[in-house]
Order: sequence, then C-alpha cells, then structure tokens
Amino acid sequence: MLRMKDIIDEKDKRLRQVSQEVKFPLSKEDLNHIDEMEEYLINSQIEEMSEKYDLRPGMGLSAVQIGVLKRYIVIVHDTEEGFISYIVINPKMTSHSEEVIYVDGGEGCLSVNRDVDGIVPRYARVTIEGYDIEGNPIKIRAREELAVAFQHELDHLEGKLFFDKIDKKNPFQNAEKYRAI
Ligand code: NI
Repeated sequence: MLRMKDIIDEKDKRLRQVSQEVKFPLSKEDLNHIDEMEEYLINSQIEEMSEKYDLRPGMGLSAVQIGVLKRYIVIVHDTEEGFISYIVINPKMTSHSEEVIYVDGGEGCLSVNRDVDGIVPRYARVTIEGYDIEGNPIKIRAREELAVAFQHELDHLEGKLFFDKIDKKNPFQNAEKYRAI
C-alpha cells in the first residue's frame, strides 16, 4: 500500500524529467504500481481511510510521482455515481476546447506539499487518447475538473509542475479572461 512517503516531493529532480513511452504487455511491476496508485487515490478520498493512513487527498497520480519514469497516469473522479477510475497508458491530448478555465483557490499536487496560489490556465474540455492496461486504444472526453486533472497529469509526464504555469510577477493575471471553476 502506498503512503505519503512513497510519493516523491517537488525537490526531487525526477519530477523534472520526461517520462518514457510504455511497451505492451505491461510488466507485473507496472500493473502493481497502477493498482497501488488507484488504491491510494480512492483511499485518500475516503475521509475515514485518509485519516487512518494519513493520506493527503488527491485525484490523480502519474507514475513519475512514485519514481517510475513511464508514461501512465491514474485519475479517480468522485462523482454522484461513485468513484470512476481512469487508467491511461501513453496518454495524449488529441483535441481541446478554445475555452480556458482555472481552479479557483489554486491547483494542488501530491508532490507539492505547500499551498501555491495563482491561476493555472487549463482547457475546459479535452479529448485524451491512449491505451488501457491490456493495450486496447481508448478515448476519453473530459470536461471541467476532470479535464484539469488530465492536463495536470499529462504535464507530469513532460516534467512540468502546475505552478510553472502561474505568472510569477502577477499570479492572478488574466483572472477575468478565464472562467473559474
Ligand atoms: Ni501533481
């Protein structure tokens, strides 16, 4: 079971590296990492579990955050129908809306253990293509919070962190130009 200590921190240089494409079939090790990432994200969003195991709540993880420089991500979306897990291998954004949004109050990241204020511009709607764990092609259309989560995790695969997108001199620049969610 993954704990907070297994998730690398922003000071770790691996978070600045570009992750490698994954070849199929996935190794047992990678399948195990994926299971653990999903388990962490689910537990972290259940109050009782997050308190019991001291897990900071999070919606997404990329493999690099557990020190594995491979292109796969896991997102667990808490919806009215319950948790929906998205596991995407070699994900790519293949289209996006014109509209740009940002998370009011700022984005968070399990590798960034501090509050960082400011506007992180994200597309309101995105299409993500990639593969499931068996290597079948998948296509996901995401909007709002889920779209932000995908863009955040895709950035991790390029060695980017959310605060890179915040204007250093004026963190709230363009607030009126974009829609807050
Ligand atoms: Ni993150």
